[in-house]
Amino acid sequence: MVSSWVAGSAIALASVLWVELVRDFYHTLSHLFPALYRLHVWHHKVFRPDLSVVSDQIYRQAHWYNDVPEALVMLVLSILPWQLAQIWNLTPQWAAWTGSLYTFSFLLSAIARGLGVPYVDELTDVTHRPGEFTTLPSRWLVNRPYHWRHHFDNQDAYFSGTLTLVDKLLGTALSLKGKRIAVTGASGTLGLALLKQLHLGGAKAIALTSSESEIELEIAGEKIQVNTIAWQTGQEGELLTQLEKVDILILNHGVNVYGERDPEAIAKSYEINTFSTLRLMELFFQTVKSDRDMIRKEVWINTSEAEVNPAFSPLYELSKRAIGDLVTLRRLDAPCVVRKLILGPFKSKLNPAGVMSPEWVAKQIINLARRDIRNIIVTINPLTFILFPVKEFFTSTYFRWFSSSK
Ligand SMILES: NC(=O)c1ccc[n+]([C@@H]2O[C@H](COP(=O)([O-])OP(=O)(O)OC[C@H]3O[C@@H](n4cnc5c(N)ncnc54)[C@H](OP(=O)(O)O)[C@@H]3O)[C@@H](O)[C@H]2O)c1
Repeated sequence: MVSSWVAGSAIALASVLWVELVRDFYHTLSHLFPALYRLHVWHHKVFRPDLSVVSDQIYRQAHWYNDVPEALVMLVLSILPWQLAQIWNLTPQWAAWTGSLYTFSFLLSAIARGLGVPYVDELTDVTHRPGEFTTLPSRWLVNRPYHWRHHFDNQDAYFSGTLTLVDKLLGTALSLKGKRIAVTGASGTLGLALLKQLHLGGAKAIALTSSESEIELEIAGEKIQVNTIAWQTGQEGELLTQLEKVDILILNHGVNVYGERDPEAIAKSYEINTFSTLRLMELFFQTVKSDRDMIRKEVWINTSEAEVNPAFSPLYELSKRAIGDLVTLRRLDAPCVVRKLILGPFKSKLNPAGVMSPEWVAKQIINLARRDIRNIIVTINPLTFILFPVKEFFTSTYFRWFSSSK
């Protein structure tokens, strides 16, 4: 009895997941094929940037041209789980119709919106309601801020309608195209590799460096000048005006004093790895002013897998663990998305014995960020994939319970 109930629930959930995948792939195809886009474009004609509708007539028309055909495609393909349940002799077979029933409710609400039935839009079109944003784009379920970016950030990304799974699979859960992305430690090994990947990915890369050099990239034998801004630890506040124009700030600068343990080494490690990073993160938070900033701006902090594993350099570990925990604490109230970069050993000036290539590491960081991974782990150490999420979960829960925002 219990096993039949469990099997029925699993089949029902799988059939709903299937129709949601169909919805998002149909949406993606609508942006790829002009014949489908001619119908879908009505959906993009409807909304102003504050998500108020341009006209009731266009709003209704968009449902006949976009939402109703989309629901019909989902309905037709919802037969597949039932057929598979028959072929594989899965029971109870009726559970495989759940996806069809679920889709039918979408079809009915799309028709009702197309007919202009009062209040149906408020009840059923939840990702298009106007008004201020009060939450950040969510990770697993599409909310208004998440979907807004499909309309007004990049129409060739953020295709998901209910679950963010398809965007995670396609690498369209974060668009970097045209975004102004600043990287600290820009003249360093990973800094340069990140700037190159960002440039190749269509972002407007900005180099933040404590060196005196203008940062230049070499791509396919061609030299490319990067917009370079000089800064020094202790003078982070001077960057405020520039950071206001930055969409994503990547805090990547760092030092390793290896086996030193004198007071100067302690001060240097904490000043650069912990406090200047913290000050820049806080400064960047100040630049998040409008609700549009809240859903476009992000800060990524390169803390290192030294948060959970030995780096055979005590002060490096101490200072990186300190910034790691401070980021965990502060992101409980962060006004924008905060990502951590948890990297294993890669070959660089800081770690000549590193085993991964910095170019590969940079590619993986961008690849995982595009999948909206908030804790980006790139390492050869399998333990980090277990230890870090466990540590992050318990530390974050402890901080949440025993501290509070103002
Ligand atoms: N290599 C690894 O195995 C590894 C592993 C995990 C994490 N990480 C982290 O990855 C980041 C990049 O490291 P990397 O390996 O690419 O090392 P890197 O080549 O030595 O680059 C580090 C950069 O940090 C900046 N920096 C150094 N001292 C500074 C100071 N006093 N004030 C401001 N900036 C300073 C410098 O860039 P500018 O001169 O342009 O300011 C420097 O080039 C670091 O945070 C590091 O801890 C490295």
